[in-house]
Amino acid sequence: MKIIPNDDGLGARIKEIDLSQTLTEDQVGEVRMALSKHGVICFPDQKIDAADLKAFSGRFGTLEINVTGNYQEPGHPEVMILSNKVVDGKPLGLSDAGQDWHTDMSYSKEMAFANVLYGIEIPRVNGTPLGCTEFGNMRAAYLDLPDDLKQKLDGRTATHDFNKFWENMRREKGSSRPPLTPEQKAKKPPVSQPIFLTHPITGDKVLYANPGYTVQIDGMDKTESDEILSFLFRHQLQPKYCYKHLWSENDVLMWDNFGTIHNAVADYGPDTPRLIKRCQVMADKVLAKVA
Ligand code: SIN
Repeated sequence: MKIIPNDDGLGARIKEIDLSQTLTEDQVGEVRMALSKHGVICFPDQKIDAADLKAFSGRFGTLEINVTGNYQEPGHPEVMILSNKVVDGKPLGLSDAGQDWHTDMSYSKEMAFANVLYGIEIPRVNGTPLGCTEFGNMRAAYLDLPDDLKQKLDGRTATHDFNKFWENMRREKGSSRPPLTPEQKAKKPPVSQPIFLTHPITGDKVLYANPGYTVQIDGMDKTESDEILSFLFRHQLQPKYCYKHLWSENDVLMWDNFGTIHNAVADYGPDTPRLIKRCQVMADKVLAKVA
């Protein structure tokens, strides 16, 4: 396989690899390292089906089955359909997934290592792709924090809540998703995560807080916590840390949830269809390797 880093300091493309075939352990190790180093990997021109996506993703850890239980690929509950398409009067997939800055599964005790998405239909206007996915480099964001803040927050944790993102989508983004049921909330209670995390593969420190899910610095007065969190959220979204993935059909896009945050840009309407299939890879395998 050929790894070609992007110019932006985040992201790489991997060519000369066919993800419909079973990878060797060495190839899986090479992809894992490249992902941890570059944060986001695009494998262009892949011809895969849902079973291939699941098989490839499953090499990196256990695959999550989404708590809402909706929009799963028939026969493959680990593969979630993200789409604004309506088929026979019914939505084909979750139409507004990830449309704010966040880290997948940071709200969960069991953290996620990676997401793997396969682009099937990409919205375009005059040939230009819409619905890009943006990423922020949380290693660079950590390194640039003022020393006194690094010291103040060292060893501290913050609470992350799945419902924050969900309600924000309903309140501010016009989402038609219904409120989470008490059963759904009970499956994903708020959890505490380190604010600065040591990346389990690279050993680098990263900023592990995000606007989507992080609600409160634990053990800190609410006003001070709000001030610091809004500073961190502004800091981590500075353009110098960000990279935009402009999708092409048949891209497989994989990202490292420890070292990056991301945002799905909602700049397309119902007349420009988008269809993506997604697997979320838990961190169990990666964490077991370093334990
Ligand atoms: C996600 O956050 O998993 C969705 C990203 C996207 O659809 O671009």
